Amino acid sequence: MGKGKIWKGRFSKETDVEMEKFSHSIETDKLLFSEDLAVNKAWAQGLNKIGILSNKETKEILNALGVIKEEFSSDNFAIQSGDEDIHSAIERRLTEITGVIGEKIHTGRSRNDQVMTDLLLYLKKALLEILEQIAELEKTVVDKAKDNFDLIMPGYTHLQQAQPILFSHYLLSLFWLIERDKESLLLGLKHCGIMPLGSAALAGTGFPVDLKTLARDLGFNELSNNSLDITAHRDIPTSISFTLTTIISHLSRYASDLILWSTDEFGFVEIDDKYATGSSIMPQKKNPDSLELIRGKAASAIGHLTALLSLCQGLPHSYNRDLQEDKKHIFEIVGITKGSLEIFSGVLKTLKVNKERITRALSSALLATEMADYLTEKGVPFRTAHTTTGNIVKWAKNNNTALNEVPLSKLKDFSSLFEEEIYDYLNFKNALSRRNSTGGTGEKSVKEQINKASKIIRNPKSKL
Ligand code: ARG
Repeated sequence: MGKGKIWKGRFSKETDVEMEKFSHSIETDKLLFSEDLAVNKAWAQGLNKIGILSNKETKEILNALGVIKEEFSSDNFAIQSGDEDIHSAIERRLTEITGVIGEKIHTGRSRNDQVMTDLLLYLKKALLEILEQIAELEKTVVDKAKDNFDLIMPGYTHLQQAQPILFSHYLLSLFWLIERDKESLLLGLKHCGIMPLGSAALAGTGFPVDLKTLARDLGFNELSNNSLDITAHRDIPTSISFTLTTIISHLSRYASDLILWSTDEFGFVEIDDKYATGSSIMPQKKNPDSLELIRGKAASAIGHLTALLSLCQGLPHSYNRDLQEDKKHIFEIVGITKGSLEIFSGVLKTLKVNKERITRALSSALLATEMADYLTEKGVPFRTAHTTTGNIVKWAKNNNTALNEVPLSKLKDFSSLFEEEIYDYLNFKNALSRRNSTGGTGEKSVKEQINKASKIIRNPKSKL
């Protein structure tokens, strides 16, 4: 009974056919095949050292694992109907090739520590690739900022023109944001260095396998301090998924800006044909689908993250089969992150910036804060200066006059403190030059940002 099952002994009936399908995860976790093979190899060597496997048996197992690897890489690994997951499939094939020798491989281990070990190895590989992509994006951001260094644009709050900023300052805001995300990923990477193997089902392995050597061979930095902790919890993949989802959702905000700015109404930027699509009916359309999809996929990632968080809340200790559902969400989030980073970098690299349209969009009302600051410097309390300037803005609007073109005689009606020099305040370059404090949008400050960012790019913290 329990035909072909690795756990068949205590069963008297076959598994219900629908239950069988319901419980299988191989279509998802086959993505872990190379990690699972590496773990099998290391475990076989560990068992060899303690005499569970003879040298000859170990050699046969390692050869068979090589054959299985070959079968997987050439798409010749035949998944069979009884294969529950990648772990049981590999064990089944190993036993087919080596006979009873293969039956020894599961000594002192469980799929519970095996699956977490595979998963952390997979995440480490994925994070290293994602960190490369982030480095590429950061470089693209800084290059684009340098190319457009002194371009002044309207800065927005509430999507209303607020104060003038440098376009390069806007771009660099993404650099610092993603740099913080990177730090969170590096912490995730550190946690991927804890080895679950040796924790077995929940209580730790009953065999004196040399775990330190195993960790070294598999590229882990430390052993797990508690077998229940590392097999029961999914905090490491979940925190990493949180950071990845945050990255995608950060990109989605920049995507939204660029979508808006690429409209005919704004015309600030043009997305390269390579990253746009057309309409099946309207011949004139050029749609920013690349950026819209980043926004849409951010929503999917949030759904997967929510599923992961829900999966673990209130779950009794330690392993429960619920946890098998984690992988599809993790894999999806990793895939969306890689895709979004790749596409966003490409869009930014090829983005055409329309300096003329951006400059034309600058409204003199962006200088209202300068006027209030002028009065404040003359000794007027800021709140009064704010109200006076607000009244002048209202007058200028009602009289169809630009704020920097209200005649001095009129300004004096509002405050006797206005002098000719107010017009020096009311220009965009001046507004920027007053904002060179650290992190401000002044040219000097943005230059400092570029230097600092370039230094980080040359000497990234991600170099482990
Ligand atoms: N496929 C399982 C998973 O991904 C492996 C662990 C199964 N363990 C068990 N006790 N049934 O979670």
